[in-house]
Amino acid sequence: MEIREALRTTGAVRAFDGTPVDRRTIYDLLDTARFAPSGGNRQCWRVVVVEDPEKRRALRDAYLPGWYEYLALSKAGLVPFAVVNDLDEEAAALRDAPAMAAHARSGPGGFAEHLDEVPALLVVLADLRHVAAMDRGDGATTFVGGASVYPFAWSILLAARDAGLGGVMTTMVRRRDADVRAILGCEPHHEVACVLALGRPIARPTKLTRSSVESFATIDVVEGAPLEPA
Ligand SMILES: Cc1cc2nc3c(=O)[nH]c(=O)nc-3n(C[C@H](O)[C@H](O)[C@H](O)COP(=O)(O)O)c2cc1C
Repeated sequence: MEIREALRTTGAVRAFDGTPVDRRTIYDLLDTARFAPSGGNRQCWRVVVVEDPEKRRALRDAYLPGWYEYLALSKAGLVPFAVVNDLDEEAAALRDAPAMAAHARSGPGGFAEHLDEVPALLVVLADLRHVAAMDRGDGATTFVGGASVYPFAWSILLAARDAGLGGVMTTMVRRRDADVRAILGCEPHHEVACVLALGRPIARPTKLTRSSVESFATIDVVEGAPLEPA
């Protein structure tokens, strides 16, 4: 597939037909994605392909609380877990999360409730011993550090697209990081970057909703003139 077309049309896929994704296929996706860039070319990524049904269910259970919290925060009109959020406002909104969970339990469930059933479930980790975090600070989280692993994760999704598969990058499990670390046997130097769900899509997104270049690119300063094509 032509790269421009792939970049413009590879949307999140959360519904899969039942076709299994075998290890050979996953191997091939990773064999392509490993050419992603990383700081100092240190290739800090690790991937755990989660096959064991018990571990899959445990990962789903680690995903769900964050998902219901996300729904509760969205319902309250907040950007869920934005680092600049007012924490008191968040706490008030989060009181709705158990109701969200109860509502979900009373229905058939969606992607989140059935995460354990997706054809392929990959956890992408970063080995912090190989991450140059240029913005590292005392006790501060690093924003730059993730840039050494997320291009790799995105490359897996693009490679999946090329192989006729689809998928989605997810991060909800980070609300239950300790659980995930225990499930996977992480060492202290491992950071959970994301969980990828992959499979053969039931349907492809037809048109992705994205803002125009003019809305986010400016000249010289943040509030400068918008970058326009001519
Ligand atoms: C860093 C990151 C975290 C994400 N986390 C989740 C997630 O936890 N669950 C989920 O269903 N989708 C998640 N997504 C997928 C986004 O919701 C999706 O890319 C976005 O809404 C655009 O959707 P579209 O491709 O269908 O237009 C995440 C995407 C990124 C890049």
